[in-house]
Amino acid sequence: MTLDVGPEDELPDWAAAKEFYQKYDPKDVIGRGVSSVVRRCVHRATGHEFAVKIMEVTTERLSPEQLEEVREATRRETHILRQVAGHPHIITLIDSYESSSFMFLVFDLMRKGELFDYLTEKVALSEKETRSIMRSLLEAVSFLHANNIVHRDLKPENILLDDNMQIRLSDFGFSCHLEPGEKLRELCGTPGYLAPEILKCSMDETHPGYGKEVDLWACGVILFTLLAGSPPFWHRRQILMLRMVMEGRYQFGSPEWDDRSDTVKDLISRLLHVDPAGRLTAEQALRHPFFERCEGSQPWSLSPRQRFRVGPRARGRAAAPSPVSRGGCCPTARCPLPGGRVDSAGGRARGRKLPPGSAADQERAGEGSLRAAASAAPDRQLCLPALRALGEEGRAAEPGSPLPAPAPWAVPQHGP
Ligand SMILES: Nc1ncnc2c1ncn2[C@@H]1O[C@H](COP(=O)(O)OP(=O)(O)O)[C@@H](O)[C@H]1O
Ligand SMILES: [Mg+2]
Repeated sequence: MTLDVGPEDELPDWAAAKEFYQKYDPKDVIGRGVSSVVRRCVHRATGHEFAVKIMEVTTERLSPEQLEEVREATRRETHILRQVAGHPHIITLIDSYESSSFMFLVFDLMRKGELFDYLTEKVALSEKETRSIMRSLLEAVSFLHANNIVHRDLKPENILLDDNMQIRLSDFGFSCHLEPGEKLRELCGTPGYLAPEILKCSMDETHPGYGKEVDLWACGVILFTLLAGSPPFWHRRQILMLRMVMEGRYQFGSPEWDDRSDTVKDLISRLLHVDPAGRLTAEQALRHPFFERCEGSQPWSLSPRQRFRVGPRARGRAAAPSPVSRGGCCPTARCPLPGGRVDSAGGRARGRKLPPGSAADQERAGEGSLRAAASAAPDRQLCLPALRALGEEGRAAEPGSPLPAPAPWAVPQHGP
């Protein structure tokens, strides 16, 4: 998919990027973040196509601290990408270049784009297709964790599809090494996918920190989203969404979950387990009965509702109460962050360059189309004041918006 080109997408000049230009011919823009633009490019010698992620590192757009942060984060990303190269479900880094003002990462081109866009088109996926995607994703996560790497930004936008519709995990911008027993405290990721312990640790100085279990929580959010066509934790008021996350409060609503198996609901509940110690590991998740199903013999895969889905959801996600969304805006005017992902370090809160949303956009995002939600996206960016307010309040209900009592539909939290 080619994106519209804005003034901020100007190609780096020859002098700054000589080495890269000598080898590759950059073409159309196929993706972008706050401080990166991804282009299709052609290898001059062979004519083969690749994708290049170009990051500008000049003081024109970034403060010296942010600049160093972006450089450092990109070096870390490159180092990790090299370390994980060769895994069938992880993006392959082909080349990297660093000039005084730009950094270039050349990857295999994933022509079918993001899982996010595929899901948008399909509305929701079958259990069979979800199983195949989640198996590949969990294998990639298991491999990362075995190598003491935590990804920290797992979401359908960062899962890319190749010509054969096989997935590859990408965007290692927030990934880092984590030795066994070591804990992290940094608040980073994408709000709708953040594990409760990431939020809790940023509100409580005495919290021990978080570990690689955060990736399994995100896998639970992805699994839920693929099957429901909408995310498990969503509220147009971010403070309420954060509370839902911290309490692990979501529901298997009707009608979207009516035909789904108890097996997959069980797996979701074991991934969206609030206590990280009781959450499934990637290895355990891969041994869950959901992945043992013999395709073709599942009653739910033959469900007439799934084969001939009717009603509003069949025509798109316009009627979904909680649309999957992306893009960057913040529900409160107090939020200090630019659009994009959350990074408490401040320098690499990258994401799509979308116009900031108004309060009206926020309203629409709750009930409008997925496309409308994409330009409003309250769950894309974490509002730090909302988080702080939540920390101060503890679990007390916000005035005027009482927190519902624990609901009967709340999924029981049980260990593996
Ligand atoms: N190898 C690739 N092939 C095709 N598209 C890609 C590739 N890498 C990135 N993209 C596109 O560019 C977008 C941004 O890239 P990503 O690495 O996720 O950057 P950011 O860190 O800014 O989110 C992706 O979501 C995807 O749409
Ligand atoms: Mg990304």
